[in-house]
Amino acid sequence: MNEEEIGIGVIGLGMGANRCEMVCHTQGARLVAVADINAERAERIANKHNVEWYTDYHCLLERDDVDVVYIMTPSGLHEEMSVEAAKAGKHVIVTKPIEVTLEKADRMIDECTKKGVKLAVDFEQRYVADNVKIWRAIREGKLGKLILGEVRMKWYRSQEYYEGWHGTWELDGGGSLINQTIHWIDLLQWFMGPVETVFGHTGVFAHKIETEDLGAAILTFRNGAVGTILGTTTYHTDSPPRIEIHGDRGSISTSNNRIELWEFTDGYQPEEIPEGSPQNVVEDMVSALKEDRNPRVSGREGRKSLEIVLAIYRSARTKKVVKLPL
Ligand SMILES: NC(=O)c1ccc[n+]([C@@H]2O[C@H](COP(=O)([O-])OP(=O)(O)OC[C@H]3O[C@@H](n4cnc5c(N)ncnc54)[C@H](O)[C@@H]3O)[C@@H](O)[C@H]2O)c1
Repeated sequence: MNEEEIGIGVIGLGMGANRCEMVCHTQGARLVAVADINAERAERIANKHNVEWYTDYHCLLERDDVDVVYIMTPSGLHEEMSVEAAKAGKHVIVTKPIEVTLEKADRMIDECTKKGVKLAVDFEQRYVADNVKIWRAIREGKLGKLILGEVRMKWYRSQEYYEGWHGTWELDGGGSLINQTIHWIDLLQWFMGPVETVFGHTGVFAHKIETEDLGAAILTFRNGAVGTILGTTTYHTDSPPRIEIHGDRGSISTSNNRIELWEFTDGYQPEEIPEGSPQNVVEDMVSALKEDRNPRVSGREGRKSLEIVLAIYRSARTKKVVKLPL
């Protein structure tokens, strides 16, 4: 292994198998080992990439050539694995959501801070050029005073999908909001700023699960703007998720992370993204380590969408407006 390369170990090989490919295609990164409790799966993915495999992830943490651990296991296992990784001196990339409770997320953040290792939460839409253009326009005040931000995500998930850990409180932390819609909830808060209040409603309509397959919420932001969130896995296809945002000087809408409408009273056009900007969380972590900076979505940043989702759940339970921070 080239000494300049960052060694990465992936734990959890469902969607994690795809993340192994991402690591292999990233300059400056090298996949060195994988772990999954499913031995057949671990061996198959390891053989494909010619790396070592384990069924006990602690063995992966013992390796000196693992600099970064990429955690792709069910959401309610992220804390345990991140904390163990930090204790072993490894930097951590964790998939979304960061965890299923704020207490667990905080323990991850605290342990990584204490051990001086970086923690990145993988919200992949944060690297999509059109989303970065929107964020820059808003940050530079081009939309003027923000008025409304809307998220709509209507997808399909079968009952079979929910036969394992999905849709359980313990391991998924909820249903369609925390697992699927959270990508766009993260974008909404990134674009619109901190949330002040949440009024939510959730229900289960088309699946036998203990959590929700439909959630809706009205938000207010600290800057006075209003937000709406709609997320469901009861639709009969995966329709393109939409975000629409407007202020008093412009309107933007996106479909599947691509800008569809860009209308500014002063004709402002989006700026091109500088060359060399990270395209995904692995590139981001590699350059964050070289430049000794925080990854784009740090633990604290990745925690924000979890707090909003948990506020929606609390509001749905109590039928009351919930004020943040929780
Ligand atoms: N686009 C995205 O960002 C995206 C997409 C899908 C899933 N995810 C996230 O990835 C995580 C996993 O989701 P998934 O759909 O891949 O689930 P999955 O069930 O398909 O895969 C999870 C894997 O983790 C393994 N595993 C479970 N417990 C383990 C343990 N103790 N040690 C080692 N391996 C263990 C399982 O055997 C399985 O192979 C979730 O947090 C989910 O939210 C993110």
